Amino acid sequence: MKERIEELRREAESYPITDQESLEQYRIIYLSKKGFIHSLFDGFRDVPAEAKKETGLLLNNLKQFATDRYNASKESLSSAETASSGADLSMPSVPYGEGSRHPISIVRKEIIDIFSRIGFTVSEGPEIEDDNHVFSMLNFPKDHPARDMQDTFYIKKISGEESDPHDVLLRTHTSSVQVRVMESQKPPIRTISPGRVFRNEAVSARAHCIFHQIEGLYIAENVSFADLRQVLLYFAREFFGKDVSIRLRPSFFPFTEPSAEMDVSCNLCGGKGCNVCKGTGWLELLGCGMVDPNVLEACGIDPVRYTGYAFGMGIERAAMLKYRVNDLRLYFENDIRFLSQFRTEIV
Ligand code: PHE
Repeated sequence: MKERIEELRREAESYPITDQESLEQYRIIYLSKKGFIHSLFDGFRDVPAEAKKETGLLLNNLKQFATDRYNASKESLSSAETASSGADLSMPSVPYGEGSRHPISIVRKEIIDIFSRIGFTVSEGPEIEDDNHVFSMLNFPKDHPARDMQDTFYIKKISGEESDPHDVLLRTHTSSVQVRVMESQKPPIRTISPGRVFRNEAVSARAHCIFHQIEGLYIAENVSFADLRQVLLYFAREFFGKDVSIRLRPSFFPFTEPSAEMDVSCNLCGGKGCNVCKGTGWLELLGCGMVDPNVLEACGIDPVRYTGYAFGMGIERAAMLKYRVNDLRLYFENDIRFLSQFRTEIV
């Protein structure tokens, strides 16, 4: 028996295992139920008692040896197969492309930073609003066209009557947030409200039914139009560069009086006139004005003691002017070729 064990060990050691087939042959010959080693175990009971201990040890060692060789060969064959598939396993993996911030997020953050530096806080409010906060308290007359179904997405008409202050709708501007701030805080108030707004408009290169705004509000004693102008000039210079000029054109909003629209000098032609500014040298950026006393009163602020200014701009519009993107839809399509041009540090 001893000799047979040694003989089998030598055989098992030198048996050529070169592929899956010879590996399987090896298993059948040595390790299977009908294999050599198993049959030796069968013969073990005939071994004389005094030799049982030594023979048993040798037999177990042989079995262990044959099993180890089987497992080692199996492993090296399978890794050799992967390697021969052409992949270089020592190569570092291909790095994932790094993500980048959306241009609207970049510009929103930049605008917030600019106003934060001069003491504005950020306030937010609900996107689903009532007529009261979006229109009525902002001095919109009952029949104002902005309330029209054609402009506003209504969620719930309460009484069926036109302009019910309880009507539920998607806010059309973030001025509604400012109403909420004025209702709950006492002057001095200095805040900006960034957020998504919704208008029932056909999607085109210049308009979208969803876009983003940042509106600003300052209320204190003795706030004048000159303060508004100075803050807007500061903003324009921080955002577009030191050489930019601004101009204010008279305009109308129900919640400000007087109202104005602000243009910035065209950053492409420097004000000489080109096709971006349509030969005017100016680009329209935002609406602004002195908060109408009716609005202050509606929000519980004394319009005799306090005055204030407000302004509001579309973030997409600001981003379009800054990056010279001429189609608003690009901001909503999430085309990687567009987005990856706006790489910034992720902060
Ligand atoms: N709320 C106005 C809009 O959505 C912008 C604006 C804000 C104008 C504040 C004047 C003052 O167009």
